[in-house]
Amino acid sequence: MSGKFQAPKGVSEYFPPRSALFDFVMQTLCGPALAAGYELIELPIFEDTELFTRGVGESTDVVSKEMYTFEDRGGRSITLRPEGTAGVMRAVIEHNLDRGKLPVKLYYRGPFFRAERPQAGRYRQFYQFGVEAIGVNDPQLDAEVIAIAYEGYKRVGLKNFTLHITSLGDRASRNSHRTALDSFIAGMDLDEETKSRATKNPLRLFDDKREEIQKQMATAPLLMDFLNSESLENFDAVKEALRSIGIPFEVNPRMVRGLDYYTGTTFEFVHHGLGAQSGIGGGGRYDGLMETLGGQSLSGIGFGLGIDRILLAMEVEKIKPSVARYTDLYVISLGEVAKKDSFTIVSDLRRSGFVVEQSYGDRGLKGSMKAADKSGARFVIVVGDAEISSGNVELKNMATGESDSVTLSALATTLAEKSR
Ligand code: HAM
Repeated sequence: MSGKFQAPKGVSEYFPPRSALFDFVMQTLCGPALAAGYELIELPIFEDTELFTRGVGESTDVVSKEMYTFEDRGGRSITLRPEGTAGVMRAVIEHNLDRGKLPVKLYYRGPFFRAERPQAGRYRQFYQFGVEAIGVNDPQLDAEVIAIAYEGYKRVGLKNFTLHITSLGDRASRNSHRTALDSFIAGMDLDEETKSRATKNPLRLFDDKREEIQKQMATAPLLMDFLNSESLENFDAVKEALRSIGIPFEVNPRMVRGLDYYTGTTFEFVHHGLGAQSGIGGGGRYDGLMETLGGQSLSGIGFGLGIDRILLAMEVEKIKPSVARYTDLYVISLGEVAKKDSFTIVSDLRRSGFVVEQSYGDRGLKGSMKAADKSGARFVIVVGDAEISSGNVELKNMATGESDSVTLSALATTLAEKSR
């Protein structure tokens, strides 16, 4: 077969120079999580399908329409992970991570897969940075998790976003709201598919984008009005903790997260320059998830931040961190003997911690100088047979055009001095 290949439809890809920005964002987001004692968890990209159907919930678009599910060679049903929380829970239960100090505080990053209709900011393979704190139900932990995300956005330079929070309360509050909402929905004019969706999780209707549904839902009972005093107190404590550390938020009682496992505090970060795909991250507390997946009854809270959308938001806000690659020296070698010797010189300098590039093949001086220029290296040396026999090279500063004669044996020291 001939012809070029293209990446599968709707995947996000990062290659130079933008990949440096991708790396910068991932690294930067890790900072606040590390500062709060979170540790890395690296998980499989694929899991048992049932982990997601049970964990994420069958009423969700993610499970009902968007999973990449296939049978592996042993006839097992496998799914490419659409999100990270269920996998983290599986690993915590499987490896007894919840039998030691609580909360278990973990962070993760990597690709996730949802077969959505691709558009700007919505991909079939996308990237998240996420954290999960498992085993303690404390409003300060809710605020800590939210603060890690908020600090991350700030550190990458974002300004034009808003934190929306709400509370889904405890089980008793949710039950009394559900009764009211079910009877409200029973009086609505709905097609069969929507009705069946509503029986699985009536909250889904708040999130339905169709105008006729939105209109009817405008007067639907809100969970916020059904929170009992315990749930209200808990939510107040979360808000109080956020205020105490200067994190601005808006309470949005109509916010519905796209996954079924949430309870208590839930939140979303919305960017104002991204159009329809404005959610740059979100998360919340999940009380029953661990038990549903066969573990102990422990509460947890976490978030997932959309790296692809953060990069788009940075472009909208014209944030350009200096992530350009930095090269100390470019080594041009001319002639057989010089080529062999300069290869070891380059290697020694790299081992000493310098970023060094070199010429390859038989490009000639002119072509190699062009390549050196393009590399952005601060210094260049040309090593020919004459330099090898004399042991001296001209160290050229690419910015000023000035050259100094330096002995090869003093190259590392001179470079170090000049980089100060
Ligand atoms: P989620 O809201 O489904 O939550 O996803 C988190 C973030 O991932 C979104 O806010 C968005 O920025 C990004 N995202 C989701 N789908 C796509 C897509 N198709 N293309 C580009 N970006 C996307 C979760 O996944 C939960 N696991 C978060 C969580 C952790 N809750 C508790 N712990």
